[in-house]
Amino acid sequence: MGSPHWKRLCLLLLAGLTSSLLLYSHYHATVEAPSSPRIIASLLQPGPLVLAPSGTPQGAGSHRWALGGSLESGNSLKPSAELEEPEPSRKQPSPCLHSVMARAKADPTFREIFHFNTPVLMWDQHFTLETWNRLKTRHVPYGWQGLSLAVVGSTLQLLNASANRQLFDRAAFPGGCVRCAVVGNGGILNGSRQGKAINSHDLVFRLNGAVIKGFEEDVGTKVSFYGFTVNTMKNSLVSYEEYGFTQVPQGKDLKYIFIPSDIRDYIMLKSAIQGSPVPEGSDKGDDPQKYFGLEASAEKFKLLHPDFLQYLTARFLRSELLNTQYSSLYMPSTGALMLLTALHTCDQVSAYGFITANYEQFSDHYYEVEKKPLVFYANHDMMLEAALWRSLHRAGIITLYQR
Ligand SMILES: *[C@@H]1O[C@H](CO)[C@@H](O)[C@H](O)[C@H]1NC(C)=O
Ligand SMILES: *[C@@H]1O[C@H](CO)[C@@H](O)[C@H](O)[C@H]1NC(C)=O
Repeated sequence: MGSPHWKRLCLLLLAGLTSSLLLYSHYHATVEAPSSPRIIASLLQPGPLVLAPSGTPQGAGSHRWALGGSLESGNSLKPSAELEEPEPSRKQPSPCLHSVMARAKADPTFREIFHFNTPVLMWDQHFTLETWNRLKTRHVPYGWQGLSLAVVGSTLQLLNASANRQLFDRAAFPGGCVRCAVVGNGGILNGSRQGKAINSHDLVFRLNGAVIKGFEEDVGTKVSFYGFTVNTMKNSLVSYEEYGFTQVPQGKDLKYIFIPSDIRDYIMLKSAIQGSPVPEGSDKGDDPQKYFGLEASAEKFKLLHPDFLQYLTARFLRSELLNTQYSSLYMPSTGALMLLTALHTCDQVSAYGFITANYEQFSDHYYEVEKKPLVFYANHDMMLEAALWRSLHRAGIITLYQR
């Protein structure tokens, strides 16, 4: 780490401070993950946010290529003779009376925003020449600019289980109406007694510093998915350790959702599937089993598609921050990405612990001992997220827990 790194870090802090001061001069501003110059450096790579053509399933109509042979010997992309058609995350319109899809289609604004055909997850068959050439022109998290072909390719090659193509198997829910709860970590949940209601959902999403022990009555115990970037996961383990977040949730039926925001995420994901220590990069030597438990298999892990992140940002959370010179810093929060992931995969979605209009009445997180004001990270746009949750709630597309 030479002085250029330090210069970048200072630039970033300055950038964060400036944009925060401009936008939320009365809020406390900071930058998520100050301890990680790596992600900061990659976030600083310039690159315009271009909306990829949506609604076109991967490779439809175009020549499809797949990774052939061993990556270690040549990293060659070869045309593939035969590829199975990827399974869409929704096979048919669900029988739910008030499904997300039905409500969204009935709403004049959201009808234009939602594209339910956008791929949510990425798996081995997406590693094609077309995808590589397209994504390498966009910086992370929306693309692969500057990332190693060998690392990305060898990671994706491991995502070859049918479980990697869908968040969950609809056949496991014969009722045909999959109800999901997404649990953010907001202070609104302190004393909420929503644990039973949360547990009663078919699937429960949690993220980052999701403390459960001691808060079961308020936040429930069920965890179907835990979403994170390696950066936010490791920062949560440091920042919220004092509140009891000493371990990432683990369990037999729990699946992990990797948000690809850096090369670290691909490297960690590969090591997690292989069950071996991280061989390189800023997490070198880390044992993935310490985070994700002993089960090392492709089935345990999901990877969000960079095109999905691009689509969500461009259509749902297009922040004013994108019009500033610091646009490459910007990214929806982990909570926002999980809630929007649920909206594109579940039939009904309830949001708990997300920012509400009266957020100032609550602590930053539900587990703080003394009330702390909500932290506004310079790389997120929490007011825009708050407005989105409010509109989705009003349109009947989500049920936002408020009090
Ligand atoms: C997935 O890839 C791994 C490693 O290349 C291989 O051992 C495994 O058999 C493959 N699984 C499937 C379902 O193709
Ligand atoms: C959480 O709620 C309890 C009572 O319900 C209260 O005593 C405590 O101060 C609250 N914690 C925070 C951080 O607001």
